[in-house]
Amino acid sequence: STIYFLNGPNLNTLGTREPEIYGTTTLSDIEARCRDVAADAGFEIVFRQSNHEGELVDWIHEARERAVAIVINAAAYTHTSLALHDALRVFAKPVVEVHLSNIHAREEIRHKSLIAPVAVGMIAGFGPVGYELAIAALKARL
Ligand code: DQA
Repeated sequence: STIYFLNGPNLNTLGTREPEIYGTTTLSDIEARCRDVAADAGFEIVFRQSNHEGELVDWIHEARERAVAIVINAAAYTHTSLALHDALRVFAKPVVEVHLSNIHAREEIRHKSLIAPVAVGMIAGFGPVGYELAIAALKARL
């Protein structure tokens, strides 16, 4: 069974982007780690990043046929995207929301998530480890 990992805008710059907030691990480091941890847990993964909201919507729809769950770090779209919210609602299988930083300890505009109401749960503030925690959470649930 396959888990889709979807990453939103600017996460392609992880490693150099605001390292005091996001750390120095790159998105491909995170992908490699997820691939190992998921394999140990008996999952295959599809791991993607896009800076385009509509592309993320298309991938959520693609996942309806191909995935048992979605792990999503929607990045800034977390706080704005009713389109991602609606697409995840249509997905109708477990969604885990991940953020590297603790969005609740940051600017107020980051406190609200439009993904949270359609997620099983949220993992925020643990850096790249959050992606691994999401796999453990799905393993326990599926
Ligand atoms: C983020 C938090 C968002 O507020 C921000 O826009 C991001 C990354 C995180 O992983 O901490 O791009 O989703």
